[in-house]
Amino acid sequence: MANENLRLRSALRDLVALSTIPAGWIGIEPRTIATGLADILAGSLGFDFAFVRMLDPTGGVTIDVTSGRATRSFLDWLQTQLSTLDESLRRQTIQNIAGFDERPISLRGMIVPIGFNAYAGLVAVGCERSDFPTEADRMLLTVAANHAATAFRSANLVNERRQAEQEVCKARDELEMKVAERTAELQQAMVELARSEAKLIEAQRVSQTGSFVWNVSTHERIGSREFFRILGFDEPHSVTWEMVLERAHPEDRAQVVETVRQASRSGKDLDYEHRLLMPDRSVRHVHVVAHAGRNSAGQLEYVGAVVDVTAAKHAEEKLHKTQSELARVTRVTTLGELTASIAHEVNQPLAGVIANAEACLRWLDRENPDLEAARRSVDWVIKDGNRATEVIRRLRSLVNKTDSEKTPLDINDVVNEVVALVQRELASHQISLQMKLAPALPMILGDRVQLQQVIINLVVNGIEAMQPVTDRPHELVIRSGLDDTQQVFVSVTDCGVGISAENEERMFNAFFTTKSSGMGIGLSICRSIMEAHDGRLWATACSPHGATFQFTLPMNADTASNVQSFLSSAGAAMPNPARRTRRPISPAPPGVH
Ligand SMILES: Nc1ncnc2c1ncn2[C@@H]1O[C@H](COP(=O)(O)OP(=O)(O)OP(=O)(O)O)[C@@H](O)[C@H]1O
Ligand SMILES: [Mg+2]
Repeated sequence: MANENLRLRSALRDLVALSTIPAGWIGIEPRTIATGLADILAGSLGFDFAFVRMLDPTGGVTIDVTSGRATRSFLDWLQTQLSTLDESLRRQTIQNIAGFDERPISLRGMIVPIGFNAYAGLVAVGCERSDFPTEADRMLLTVAANHAATAFRSANLVNERRQAEQEVCKARDELEMKVAERTAELQQAMVELARSEAKLIEAQRVSQTGSFVWNVSTHERIGSREFFRILGFDEPHSVTWEMVLERAHPEDRAQVVETVRQASRSGKDLDYEHRLLMPDRSVRHVHVVAHAGRNSAGQLEYVGAVVDVTAAKHAEEKLHKTQSELARVTRVTTLGELTASIAHEVNQPLAGVIANAEACLRWLDRENPDLEAARRSVDWVIKDGNRATEVIRRLRSLVNKTDSEKTPLDINDVVNEVVALVQRELASHQISLQMKLAPALPMILGDRVQLQQVIINLVVNGIEAMQPVTDRPHELVIRSGLDDTQQVFVSVTDCGVGISAENEERMFNAFFTTKSSGMGIGLSICRSIMEAHDGRLWATACSPHGATFQFTLPMNADTASNVQSFLSSAGAAMPNPARRTRRPISPAPPGVH
């Protein structure tokens, strides 16, 4: 009984000792737990030998700890027991044995799992006592193992939490790093963006091109800084589209509105020029180009540019003036070459004046002056005088005129006027002229003098091209008519030296000449005159020799309706207008009148 009391008391004492353990073990490493457990078992609880095998919660090495002394045979027994356990608990040899008991004693052993199904490991004790294991021993071991399991679990939790914390820290660090990287990239992108925006602004400023986007459905309009600068607005944000439209020159505004309205209705691209009237009353010329497209919402949207072409327009006007002046100078030069023809053209009516005046005198000197006949002669004198005045007026306009002035013209009239001027020139070079002018051509809108200049240049070039030719008759053919596209054409064909493929286009370049005395300016002027008339001028080599120079002119819109009548009359034979019927410059012999 006294023994029993003692045992109970010591068991109670051991239990109390054990109960203090968990507080110390919470949150500590498995190895410390294993060592502490082994020491308690082999120390405070009085077992002779304790072995603790703990699994590493992180899946690392298994921890083996021993305390006290074991006999070799006990260790063999223990090893055998372990080999029957699960893979994780079964290890071949038990390491770290503190010492062997060499006394001839035998140890009784017991193995207790730590945690359910020994998930945390196991504990084995060896005891010399012959009554081992008593109920109290079993209880103490189980309690100790349970404490170790709890500590192991808490160590696991701590470990997991630490790991989770580490992972969170790592993730946070990575995130911070990524944020820093992205921020740097973003800053770099911002710098690049600012740089390219600055470049774009500069490019727009230098090229005087403003860009804009216009959503037709939402009426939203966005413009670049240069866009508003061209329009003369300092603060783009406060500008409405109506204010932009207000800038259009009053004379152009209606046209602009109409053009934009029509294009946006049909979803067509925009391409037009108009003037702006600025607040200081200055005028700017702008060229608007915009591409029509659909945005992601399928709405019609224009993306375009407004180019300030004022400087170009002024330069163009200056160029035009220079060209006109040059054209005038070359006209004078050409006329200089045609003095013989001109003199003839002027002399012809003057000779008529003299002859008719003399005839008049003769009618009056008669014994019975024939006043009727004298009057007719004076009529002739007046008419010839007028004709001479007309020739001189035309010559003067050829010499002086620089301004372009387009009027509805019959191109055949223009051809005939030129032919009159070059008659003598043709005759002196033994050139036979054939005129194949289509009758009743529709009118064209043109500058009479400029068109005369073109034809004169072509005829003079033709004459000069035939000069070196000695083995065939010199023939020049001037044709007029309507081509397949209903445009009026005039062509001048010679049988001269012809043109090489290489020179076919070069001839129209200013200062290209193959003549020792040529300036090489004639054809380039002809071409610019044609362009100013929306016409075209080109050359083709003729077979077997010679060349044809042809120009086409759009017909005057007002006379377009005449085409039909022209076409129906074209089949009818008409007298050749080239045969200018000249009336006698002198009265018929006396008595005839
Ligand atoms: N009918 C033609 N046949 C062959 N070559 C021609 C004919 N017309 C022009 N050319 C070629 O084209 C060149 C340029 O002609 P263009 O009338 O421009 O200048 P040019 O006659 O040489 O000098 P100018 O300035 O005095 O007219 C000529 O030099 C000549 O080589
Ligand atoms: Mg020439």
